[in-house]
Amino acid sequence: MYALEIRGLGKKYHAKKMQTVEALKGLNLAVEQGEVLGFLGPNGAGKSTAIKCLMGLIRPSAGSASILGHDIASPESRRQVGYLPENPAFYDYLSAEEYLKFVGQTFRMPADLLARRSEEMLKLLELWDARKRLIRSYSKGMVQRVGLAQVLIHDPQIYLLDEPMSGLDPIGRALVKEIILDLKKRGKSVFFSTHITDDVEKVCDRVAVIHKGELQVVDSVESILQRGTEGYTVALSAPDGSKEELLVPKDDLQSFIQRTVQNGKTIEKIEPRRKDMEAFFLEIVAR
Ligand SMILES: Nc1ncnc2c1ncn2[C@@H]1O[C@H](COP(=O)(O)OP(=O)(O)OP(=O)(O)O)[C@@H](O)[C@H]1O
Ligand SMILES: [Mg+2]
Repeated sequence: MYALEIRGLGKKYHAKKMQTVEALKGLNLAVEQGEVLGFLGPNGAGKSTAIKCLMGLIRPSAGSASILGHDIASPESRRQVGYLPENPAFYDYLSAEEYLKFVGQTFRMPADLLARRSEEMLKLLELWDARKRLIRSYSKGMVQRVGLAQVLIHDPQIYLLDEPMSGLDPIGRALVKEIILDLKKRGKSVFFSTHITDDVEKVCDRVAVIHKGELQVVDSVESILQRGTEGYTVALSAPDGSKEELLVPKDDLQSFIQRTVQNGKTIEKIEPRRKDMEAFFLEIVAR
């Protein structure tokens, strides 16, 4: 059973004056249990639309999906889900502590477990000192942190995170990456959207790239980076002790090595020169 299975999901928005925006065009995608899958796409690609469909916040125009085998049409499917919306907005007149209590109660957590988890999450997300203040007095990054705390509080199996690193400072971003890696270690499944390629490279098993409502590619981070190998940087030393570093095209490596050895030189280092995820992403969007 997949953690998440999306089958031919489509969404048309009917805007004013009979205009229709086709935000999702038959999306097919599956997330394995224990997998971290990055949902990468530029602004307006359809990432939030897909995630909102999964959460039952908007109704898809076509297709279906299931979470841990439960069809998303049933609320049961969301019992094991932690969801972070893209622009989290919480009750202004609650403090972070009160809000977490509310969320925990919604998921019917026992009071003692809830109190313990709440303290852990507030400390983890560095909201402990601010826990009694009203959320409306929080900065943007602090509100995002409340969003992450409410995702984690009930320790669900599946995480649907719409731009979890958004609005956070570098320390906060690093913390979110650590949290995601920790979830993975504990066998949880994470599906998160982003348009920042670096986030994907560091924490994902696989990446799904979406552009204009259509899936462009789904592959492992490793193989995407491998595909982008342009050539090799080779460091050589000659018998007289002189050193040089050369860029060798991908297909010339074998013959280059033979020539080098024949000339009595020593190869000190061979390193693949890769296009990074950013270049790969830009190429897809440009295409
Ligand atoms: N309520 C709506 N009514 C009409 N069109 C909408 C609505 N919500 C989204 N869209 C359109 O659907 C497309 C996809 O939007 P979506 O919010 O899913 O993109 P996204 O990938 O999440 O982008 P971003 O990175 O900016 O968050 C866009 O063209 C957007 O204008
Ligand atoms: Mg979005």
